[in-house]
Amino acid sequence: DNFVLIMAGGVGSRFWPVSRIEHPKQFIDFFGVGKTLIQSTYDRFLKICPPENIFVVTNEIYTDIVKKQLPELSDNQILAEPIMRNTAPCIAYGSMKIAEINPNATIIVAPSDHTIANLERFVGAIEEALKAARENHCLITLGIKPTRPDTGYGYIQFIENTLPADDRIHKVKLITEKPNLELAKSFVQSGDFLWNAGIFVWSVNAISDAFSTHLPEMYDIFHLGASSYNTPEEKDFIANAYTQCTNISIDFAIMEKADNVYVLPTDFGWSDLGTWASIYDMADKDYVGNAVMPSEQVMMFNSSNCMVNVPEDKLVILQGLHDYIVVESNNTLLICPRTEEQSVKQIVADVKSNF
Ligand code: GDD
Ligand code: MG
Repeated sequence: DNFVLIMAGGVGSRFWPVSRIEHPKQFIDFFGVGKTLIQSTYDRFLKICPPENIFVVTNEIYTDIVKKQLPELSDNQILAEPIMRNTAPCIAYGSMKIAEINPNATIIVAPSDHTIANLERFVGAIEEALKAARENHCLITLGIKPTRPDTGYGYIQFIENTLPADDRIHKVKLITEKPNLELAKSFVQSGDFLWNAGIFVWSVNAISDAFSTHLPEMYDIFHLGASSYNTPEEKDFIANAYTQCTNISIDFAIMEKADNVYVLPTDFGWSDLGTWASIYDMADKDYVGNAVMPSEQVMMFNSSNCMVNVPEDKLVILQGLHDYIVVESNNTLLICPRTEEQSVKQIVADVKSNF
């Protein structure tokens, strides 16, 4: 059977000040489509598996928001993490819980904060990867053709070799998670790297083996509690288990290291919405490259390539500003060169410790 693990416990700090700890971006209806990002994610997977096979892993501070936004989920389908430890523990926990339900399951691990424009192609790619993951002991990730040297992504270099039964799924030679700008530029220029979409497909067996090889301590922590999963004892076990986990992403902990990683190059209008640059890329721009929301309230003079996002009741005037992000939300104003937007993450950390 196919299962889905939606990861929804991140704080989306590079999107600040619109996305905040109390209300991260996966719970926001970013484009005013009537659905939040996590609701759209859930709906996409209804095309792939029965609703009872969709699980959401989130921090316990967000379980109420998840219940409200996805009332279809039973309590057992919402995995609450007591502390934030990034995506490796989230996936270890989720996979081992699913293994207790079905040890032969194939799992799709998906972020909760992406947009996908072409649903049909997305479903096609996922089904292709699921079939391959059932037949091969490997870790499959979806790859996207890069359009800019974004340092917030993982970069995947693949080789000609493919899986025996699917000549579109290539063996991965190298994954570099969040490279520096210089490296990112050379990856994009070389033309043979893909972005890691952060959407993974594998069997319960393949991911368990990967944890036991590359993160044996974490494997042991979650494996030890297996008999409590899907029972009333699970919560107590997990409360203790997380205190022993290192804070690390699946990308650094496993995808960079494992030697059975494969990539399916895809094209379904994917966007991570990880940063203001990704919104800028997708947004409508005027002839000098300004992306402005809402446009009636912003007056621009001799300004170009700016990303402006302000509340509707704000009058904003820009004079002689080029390549800047100007964002206001929650009474907080951020002005930052577009080239330095990755540092927003650090700024948020500083702001939090000072205010
Ligand atoms: N449950 C849980 N717990 N979820 C988490 C946690 C956590 O501690 N931390 C992050 N998440 C969720 C986020 O909410 C998001 O949906 C997903 O996991 C990925 O985390 P991000 O923090 O957004 O990762 P990233 O964007 O920096 O990098 C990943 O995605 C990129 C593509 O979007 C990596 O996989 C990159 O390699 C990839 O290119
Ligand atoms: Mg992300």
